[in-house]
Amino acid sequence: MIRKCLFPVAGYGTRFLPATKSMPKEMLPVVNKPLVQYGVEEAIEAGMMNCAFVTGRGKRAIADHFDISYELEHQIAGSNKESLLDSIRDVINQGTFTMVRQREMLGLGHAVLTGESLIGSEPFGMLLSDDLCVNDAGPGVMTQLAKIYERFGCSVVAVQEVPMEEVHRYGVIDGQQLQDGLYRVESMVEKPAADNAPSNLAIIGRYILTPDIFDILRNTPPGAGGEVQITDALQTQAKNGSVLAYKFHGRRFDCGSVPGFVEATNFVFNNLFGTNT
Ligand code: UTP
Repeated sequence: MIRKCLFPVAGYGTRFLPATKSMPKEMLPVVNKPLVQYGVEEAIEAGMMNCAFVTGRGKRAIADHFDISYELEHQIAGSNKESLLDSIRDVINQGTFTMVRQREMLGLGHAVLTGESLIGSEPFGMLLSDDLCVNDAGPGVMTQLAKIYERFGCSVVAVQEVPMEEVHRYGVIDGQQLQDGLYRVESMVEKPAADNAPSNLAIIGRYILTPDIFDILRNTPPGAGGEVQITDALQTQAKNGSVLAYKFHGRRFDCGSVPGFVEATNFVFNNLFGTNT
């Protein structure tokens, strides 16, 4: 059973400036809930009650969101507005929340290594909350990955088929199909040109990682863009046959981009309020 989930939330969110000048991208609301809460709810559904955040400067609102606000609670106590806090109260009551700061933004791989002190030597989930995933027909994506981990005991990445003209935005896998929707990863390429892409199976922001990833990351030199890439470290694990890719069930919205964020907002609004605007 995987108990911990790492949330790298230290990025600058420059694509949402000026909104993200003094507010974390992860606190942008999709209708009435901040992005990061959707992610935390998905992790908790998967049994990952310990949520570990790799934060940075200007991200204190995230820590406050997963804590009690005495003033607010006092103000609305006994009123009909109290129930509006139910979803976040449930999350706070079920989970524990720990934080560590990434002092310099040296890449996602570096952010994961920064989280080592919160994770220790156990397998863990890793969730990028700017990918919002929903699965109305069954369990969430993190639960789906955790089930694969329970069977195979190795790292697992969630993948999605994307149009060839979009592969340059993702890490892309090359692998051997083991069964419908499940692949043993042989190699992966970060942001390939369409001509060089080994497939159109793109890695999205849901992972299960085994703890040997930390030692690998320590020995991984900076790659594309001068940043330590998680894909490079996963590539080392893949060489030993210990990475699986799972074509998850459900939908994913790229809320790190403005069009994806708007799409997610419309989807959640229509689902919540049953309208078709
Ligand atoms: P992105 O590059 O998509 O996020 O990183 P960003 O930098 O916040 O966004 P833009 O491109 O400037 O708009 C993917 C994820 O990795 C985290 C980010 O917070 C995001 O969730 N990340 C990235 C870190 O935590 N630390 C890093 O050094 C880099």
